[in-house]
Amino acid sequence: FRIEKVKDYSVLSKKAAMLIAAEITQREHPVLGLATGSTPIGAYQVLRELYQEGRLDFSAVRTVNLDEYRGLAPEDSHSYRYFMNQELFQHVNIPMENTAVPNGLLEDANKACLEYEALIRKLGGIHLQILGLGHDGHIGFNEPSDSFPRETHCVQLAEETIEANQRFFSSKEEVPKEAYTMGIGTIMKAKKILLMVSGKDKADILQKVLEGPVTPSVPASILQFHPHVTVLADEAALSKCK
Ligand code: F6R
Repeated sequence: FRIEKVKDYSVLSKKAAMLIAAEITQREHPVLGLATGSTPIGAYQVLRELYQEGRLDFSAVRTVNLDEYRGLAPEDSHSYRYFMNQELFQHVNIPMENTAVPNGLLEDANKACLEYEALIRKLGGIHLQILGLGHDGHIGFNEPSDSFPRETHCVQLAEETIEANQRFFSSKEEVPKEAYTMGIGTIMKAKKILLMVSGKDKADILQKVLEGPVTPSVPASILQFHPHVTVLADEAALSKCK
């Protein structure tokens, strides 16, 4: 791990955006793995600004998102496709056809997952994967379990995740119960990983991820075995670490 401690969320967002911008600028055909959730919103905002200032070009960028709720249409304001369009894609010059989010509407779950893996392979793999961290240690929608799922798959969401995501819906009942997510294997194949963590409420889980045993009961702990991970976290999130 390369752990980079920053003061607060604002610095975290700027630094994350710089790492992403460097990756985009250095490669001819950059492939980014993207995440939704609250944590990367600030970084996406900074990337938008860099584009608007004429300092960053997204025209050759390809993106694959980590996950999507099963059953939600791309136009649904709760879908991750909608989130990505709102927060990033429609504000920069990325061709929409270069962006991929698992299709929540495909009936055949197995096929949807195989197709997503095939797409990532076709792109030649992910250069930089952005990750947020769930309170239970999940990355993507890979929830604590007794093994590390390898490829893109369909999951039942943990109760804790449904509760955490309820804030985006008008009631808990509306939160979808299933999702498509890249597997831990898919994530681990990325050349570089950027794990972003902010806030005191993530301090306990981040301590387990960084300093605890590698175990599927804390899915993000597998990142200890990835050769090129940057953990970008603020002081509050790192407050329980050595
Ligand atoms: C989002 C995702 C999730 C989030 C995690 C943290 O695409 O895959 O694993 O990264 O739930 O969410 P926030 O950032 O909202 O705390």
